[in-house]
Amino acid sequence: MDTRTRLAARVQEIAPFHVMEVQTAARALEAAGRSVVHMEIGEPDFPTPGPVISAAHEAIARGDIYYTSALGIPALREAIARHYRDRLGVRVSPERVIVTAGSSAALLLTLALLVNHDDAILLADPGYPCNRHFVRTLEGEAVGIPVGPQSNYQLTADLISAAWTPRTRGALIASPSNPTGTMVAFEEMRRIAAAVDARGGELIVDEIYLELSYAEKPRTALELSDSLFVISSFSKYFNMTGWRLGWLVAPETAVRDIEKLAQNLYISPPTVSQRAALACFSPDTLAIVEERRREFQARRDFLVPALRDLGFGIPVMPTGGFFVYADCSPFGMDSERFCVEALQATGVAFTPGIDFGRHRAEDHVRFAYTIALDKLHDGVRRLASWLPRLSRT
Ligand SMILES: Cc1ncc(COP(=O)(O)O)c(C=O)c1O
Repeated sequence: MDTRTRLAARVQEIAPFHVMEVQTAARALEAAGRSVVHMEIGEPDFPTPGPVISAAHEAIARGDIYYTSALGIPALREAIARHYRDRLGVRVSPERVIVTAGSSAALLLTLALLVNHDDAILLADPGYPCNRHFVRTLEGEAVGIPVGPQSNYQLTADLISAAWTPRTRGALIASPSNPTGTMVAFEEMRRIAAAVDARGGELIVDEIYLELSYAEKPRTALELSDSLFVISSFSKYFNMTGWRLGWLVAPETAVRDIEKLAQNLYISPPTVSQRAALACFSPDTLAIVEERRREFQARRDFLVPALRDLGFGIPVMPTGGFFVYADCSPFGMDSERFCVEALQATGVAFTPGIDFGRHRAEDHVRFAYTIALDKLHDGVRRLASWLPRLSRT
């Protein structure tokens, strides 16, 4: 950066994504002829389902490429509302569904709607890093609350109540979580919603991995109240990361203000992606993504015990998404060095905990099971032949 350019303070406080740096180092190894097992990547390896691609081709052929309403096309808002009714058993009016440019935009819009200068938002540490950076960008304070296996690596009503101050505006929960893959039990979510409500705050629930759940039938926080902000995405369950499409279900009274923000921040969500996403809810697409969900579950069922056998600490079984957050402290080095050395020695790439917060970040790494089972086996084999050579603590 030109040294004459004066940057805003917020930029200095926003950390880069270390996972991207791991990925760059992994790609450099590959370019030098080494084979790499990629367990650092947080997006599904599956291609976008065929019916979705066909719907996109048809939209382009029709010339359907113009801006849409900032809230999204009505047909898609209705289809999402129907999906909540049919799949998750909850009635949501389509007027409350706002289609966004990825769930990233849904998170940004919600926080822009709620956060004033110096307002605090409570988040789990470890957690998805962009959230604290969104809050910082909006001049608020992201308050990371240390969480561990006792609470499934999630916030609880008690943790939220203990951390609440007059500056607290609300809490943001991702269930299942990135990086831990763990969920908030539904009854705990009920207590959380009541605790936040009793304090006059707002609860934002990021459910982008909800339909990639492996334990029991997923339940959306929308069952609990009409005044929550619930965020979701086409990126993960529907394998559409690059299409940049997500959504937000907001309290009815907030929709008009969110529309104003969306109009000004990015005009409208991508048109072709919206037309394509209409095919997500067809029986054919749902059959494809459900099959893939079972494949993710089979990968998890292999990877978690295999990593435990290698000596990683995984005290809570992840029940959603495609991440395993593993304690690497038995191997005697901090997680950043551990990732670098593992990559150099074995060609297995995974992400250091520092991407996800401060709490015991140096003791943890994140593995993503976004590669096929045979590659996961290969990665585990490589680690198995390297780890015994390290001096264990
Ligand atoms: C917990 C969580 N929320 C939100 C996002 C943003 O996803 P997208 O903008 O692709 O919907 C991610 C991406 O990895 C995530 O892990």
